[in-house]
Amino acid sequence: MQLQDILYSQGFGTRRVCAGLIQQGLVEVYTENSALAPVLCADSAMDFDPEGLRFRVQGVDWPYHRQAYVLLNKPAGTECSQKPSTYPSIYTLLPSPLRLRPQKGALQGVQAVGRLDQDTTGLLLLSDDGQFIHRMTSPKKHVPKVYEVTTKHPLDEQQVSKLLAGVVLDDDPKPVRAAACEAVSSHHLRLTLTEGKYHQVKRMLAAVSNRVEGLHRSQMGSFALPADLLPGQWRWLSAEDLAQLCAAQTSS
Ligand code: URA
Repeated sequence: MQLQDILYSQGFGTRRVCAGLIQQGLVEVYTENSALAPVLCADSAMDFDPEGLRFRVQGVDWPYHRQAYVLLNKPAGTECSQKPSTYPSIYTLLPSPLRLRPQKGALQGVQAVGRLDQDTTGLLLLSDDGQFIHRMTSPKKHVPKVYEVTTKHPLDEQQVSKLLAGVVLDDDPKPVRAAACEAVSSHHLRLTLTEGKYHQVKRMLAAVSNRVEGLHRSQMGSFALPADLLPGQWRWLSAEDLAQLCAAQTSS
């Protein structure tokens, strides 16, 4: 694959911009013979095997990923929208190549795998793989999502059993139930859901006469948000992470 096409596929801009970056001497490549230091490559048509390739653009290292799967620890006060109405977009927390990866000819970048409210924190996935996004968000796949809920009022056994048995939300006659629900302390509930309706946790808590004061997503499938990823930070997902995310899927 030509170096300019590799850069284009990774979100470094249009093909013309990528060719320009290379021809201006701003791109270095880590080849097998240069394990330590990257080598300048000013030929935009030079061929490389992209799998496993690492390169450096304007001093920033970038590993080739055929498709992007990333994890963000979403901070409070951010919106999961490309065009936010009130708070900054989560996309501003990502480097520009992740926002400019081409999809079907347009530089659309990665998309959030489902949405969290502006005040919700924690585990948020982003990808440019439409099938992956569908698999992780489809209610038919039952991917468990674990939420740590801080409640305004003390929790009791009755609330927990109602959440497990199913509660009716205002706009929907079909009851929704928690796949798991545990009162960790008087104001801390650990709630597992396998669907993702609008404001679902907040509406479920309201249905048992309580109220959400803080909401944090800690786990999806059997993949837990790593403790060393601070709010606002992102990282690539590894093959093991993806296996953990997909392990808990079932279909119906
Ligand atoms: N449920 C909610 O109410 N809000 C979220 O952000 C996620 C789940």
